Amino acid sequence: MVDNIHPIFNQSLQAADKEKKLTQKGLVIWMVGLSGSGKSTLATGLENKLHEAGYHTMLLDGDNLRSGINSNLSFSDSDRLENIRRASEIAKLFANNGTVTICSLISPTKQIRELASSILGDKYYEVFVNCPLKVCEERDVKGLYAKARNGEIKNFTGIDSPFEDPDNPNLEIKTDLLSLNDSLDLLFENIVSKIKY
Ligand code: ADX
Repeated sequence: MVDNIHPIFNQSLQAADKEKKLTQKGLVIWMVGLSGSGKSTLATGLENKLHEAGYHTMLLDGDNLRSGINSNLSFSDSDRLENIRRASEIAKLFANNGTVTICSLISPTKQIRELASSILGDKYYEVFVNCPLKVCEERDVKGLYAKARNGEIKNFTGIDSPFEDPDNPNLEIKTDLLSLNDSLDLLFENIVSKIKY
């Protein structure tokens, strides 16, 4: 597949050059969790907090990517894998550019997260946004659980498509127990130590 391709990664400016200029370290904060667990809320809140604190950031949200570069992908197992592969490769480009990159995608299986982790290497920082299915379903912010229950949406994560809890995330946030502010403080404190130059 990569026959006759000659990457110039070694000739272009390196991550360290970009990090020096930005005085921050590139990192990918990979937020994992059920639909309605609070990933996007925490991701946008975190991005705002980091921005205020002077960091250069990028937010890659599953729904956003699926409305653009990933708009040809479904929610089958193989398309979810491709969704995560593309998001990881994009995040890697940003992280290598020195950007603090926040990815917010369900990333439902161990296989999928292993793929993201293998693409991103030591830039991968996994945050499990943990909220019981029952609570996500009660919140049903987008009305999608109701549609999944009455069969209007197939392969919905947690209903008729699997979600496997991460075994060993770098950080876990229980959004049914912590307030939004406390969750954001916890996230911010843990991440700032990783991105300080
Ligand atoms: S992932 O499983 O491939 O990581 P991703 O994060 O990109 O999912 O997209 C999830 C979003 O797509 C949800 O937040 C929801 O708004 C929407 N969505 C639509 N159909 C489904 C489905 N069958 N399962 C899960 N999410 C869905």
